[in-house]
Amino acid sequence: MFKIIESQMVVPNMHLLVVEAPAVARQMNPGQFVILRSEEDGERIPLSVSDWDAKAGTVTVVFLNVGHSTSTLASLESGMNIPSVVGPLGNPTEIDKFGTVLCLGGCYGIGSLYPIARALKEKGNKIVTVIEARSSFLFYWEDRLREVSDQLFHITRDGTKGSRGHVSRLPEIIKAWGQSVDRMIINGCTFLLKRGSDVSRSMGIKTVVSLNPIMIDGTGMCGVCRVTVAEATKFACVDGPDFDGHEVDWAELLQRRKQYVAEESVSFRTSRCEEHARRP
Ligand SMILES: Cc1cc2nc3c(=O)[nH]c(=O)nc-3n(C[C@H](O)[C@H](O)[C@H](O)COP(=O)(O)OP(=O)(O)OC[C@H]3O[C@@H](n4cnc5c(N)ncnc54)[C@H](O)[C@@H]3O)c2cc1C
Ligand code: FES
Repeated sequence: MFKIIESQMVVPNMHLLVVEAPAVARQMNPGQFVILRSEEDGERIPLSVSDWDAKAGTVTVVFLNVGHSTSTLASLESGMNIPSVVGPLGNPTEIDKFGTVLCLGGCYGIGSLYPIARALKEKGNKIVTVIEARSSFLFYWEDRLREVSDQLFHITRDGTKGSRGHVSRLPEIIKAWGQSVDRMIINGCTFLLKRGSDVSRSMGIKTVVSLNPIMIDGTGMCGVCRVTVAEATKFACVDGPDFDGHEVDWAELLQRRKQYVAEESVSFRTSRCEEHARRP
């Protein structure tokens, strides 16, 4: 069993969990993920690691409450246990001296970007971090990101903080920064990864995206996380999750992510009904 040390909602519908998992924390590197279960008979869900403490033996995940497993996980309180935390899984993000790196994050990717930006900064890169959200109240960990960034920019769809709009504003932001960008790293939902890659392609900036296709075992056995990159078949769990964003077949990935939507919806509704039935 793995003890929950901290459980909190960081912004509406976005949760943070710190879990005791010493063997996982000791081996963790930026860009890797864990697969955990929120209940004994629950499914395995992959979550990127947003931080860890090798001394305390803890790992931190930030997740969006989208369905049955994530809502069950969000309902757990500190002091409770979860049955499994497997990791670290996937290859770490490449950390080297690239020059200026633009780190782009949205949604739960704001959290998972943090250890990547920190490691790149420690390596001597200049870090420009851009975080995007529908509205300013959905931003979190800004202080942490500011600490590891030379500059932090915001994009909000409703214009409540930073540039108004979407990642199509990136070229203006880079112009305002006033220096060329040598590499872009994107963490977040598949739409952000795709749109960010479209923008950076037009600017000729090498772009690394952390892919999040549906995964089951996370160890290259089941083939469910199959993605096409540079016209070759890759398993995101063992060949990735990082890939060149300009080489990913986005249409196929978006299609494959949707394949169980009907079943997921039934599962979510059933679990909510069962929960209501259990209430006194
Ligand atoms: C490498 C990787 C890292 C991820 N990191 C994070 C993270 O840090 N924070 C976060 O909020 N989410 C992350 N995800 C997505 C997360 O795994 C799903 O949101 C979660 O599994 C949904 O489960 P659910 O039962 O709550 O929702 P469901 O109702 O089962 O599914 C809702 C949607 O989530 C996606 N999903 C469902 N099952 C899986 C699965 N087994 N693997 C991948 N996607 C799935 C599908 O697109 C689906 O339509 C990551 C996915 C991958 C592959
Ligand atoms: S999740 Fe099974 S092969 Fe990647």
